Amino acid sequence: MEKLVIHGGTRLNGEVTISGAKNSAVAILPATLLIDGISTINNLPNISDVKIICDILKELGAKIHWNNNNEIQIDTRNITSWKAPTDMTSKFRASYYLIGSLLGRCKSVEVGSPGGCKLGARPIDQHIKGFELLGAKVKTGSGIISATTDKLVGTSIYMDTVSVGATINLMLAATLCEGTTNIENAAKEPHIVDVANFLNAAGANIIGAGTDVIKIIGVPKLKANITYSVVPDQIEAGTFMLASVASKGDITIKNCVPEHLDCLSAKIIEMGANVEYNGDELRVIMNSRPKAVNVNTLPYPGFPTDLQSQMGVALSIADGTSIINESIWESRFQYTTELNKMGANITSQGKTAIFQGVKSLTGAPVSATDLRAGAALIIAGIIAQGKTEVSNLIHIDRGYENIESKFKALGANIRRVKE
Ligand code: UD1
Repeated sequence: MEKLVIHGGTRLNGEVTISGAKNSAVAILPATLLIDGISTINNLPNISDVKIICDILKELGAKIHWNNNNEIQIDTRNITSWKAPTDMTSKFRASYYLIGSLLGRCKSVEVGSPGGCKLGARPIDQHIKGFELLGAKVKTGSGIISATTDKLVGTSIYMDTVSVGATINLMLAATLCEGTTNIENAAKEPHIVDVANFLNAAGANIIGAGTDVIKIIGVPKLKANITYSVVPDQIEAGTFMLASVASKGDITIKNCVPEHLDCLSAKIIEMGANVEYNGDELRVIMNSRPKAVNVNTLPYPGFPTDLQSQMGVALSIADGTSIINESIWESRFQYTTELNKMGANITSQGKTAIFQGVKSLTGAPVSATDLRAGAALIIAGIIAQGKTEVSNLIHIDRGYENIESKFKALGANIRRVKE
């Protein structure tokens, strides 16, 4: 077991380069199953969720070659199984993308129930409803999800909830199906557009990704030998923007898509930050204690739930009282208990938390309760007086590439040690 030891009180300063988007990569890799041939994917984040998907794809018969730390070649010509090992698939949430991909490729699939961060109930009823409407028979139970079909046929699918995972999964399943599928009330996150761009680059016919209605005109086959670059990670970029705000820092964030972060930029400007734009770079300068603001998490283009805990750290030391309403996940305030150990004054009940800003935090041993909470606690350790130890790094390593090196390059006194 490892932990991060941070000596805090640092004003972060310098440049950071953003990696490829985790939530895109974990969908594009399974999507290569829809191609019968070789695909090259670059700008892949080197994180444990990506490694585990590659291991699962190998179990299914794919051949994988890492060209370098961030680029792989996947050869899917010899897929021999549609059963993904349950112990591997239940380790992370995005394993559900194997359902849409394997249904499209093999017409049958079996995976373990998806795992991932414990954020409260994480139903997949909208995925299942969509697969059934496309013509699959789906069974769930005993920790396994299986589905089978003679053929998938396009149809209209109205999503009762705006769901990132269900939107992508149904796009995957519908890509090779007969006829046209319309996904209504689709999610619009940047990684949905990225997965559609990848599939279209391989010859799919997907129109409207990034809007409420996505039309997928089924094609009989995708083409091989494409090279695709994963979009920069919106959430990693937002994490460093908020690290600059919380630490009264001056950080230039390189290789990002600033418009994916418009909502966060508007919020941190309200908090007193100065945001400068320069092509695919953003510079966030903060010279004062943050002002208190209220935040309501929403599907894109609203404030991302995956930046809620990092924002919580900035608000914990803000001047005044802030309220965060978490409207996506039912238990995403576990990190506030850890922040209170560091001297924050946060009360949470259900989906609402009230942040009475304190002047400063004090270092303490804390545990990363989930992936984004882990990143938030690193920021808290960097701004706190004294020493903070962040344990349970398994969550952080699932989604952030070289996080401590990136913070170290910005001036943080942070190192990874064995517990
Ligand atoms: C994805 C992201 C996750 C992010 C979340 C919301 C990945 C791998 N993970 O998760 O980091 O926090 O989007 O931006 O991309 N819901 C249902 N039924 C369903 C599916 C979802 O009721 O079938 C509900 C969920 O309980 C939740 C909301 O819809 O309240 C949004 O969930 P969804 O967008 O599906 O999240 P994920 O795709 O799991």
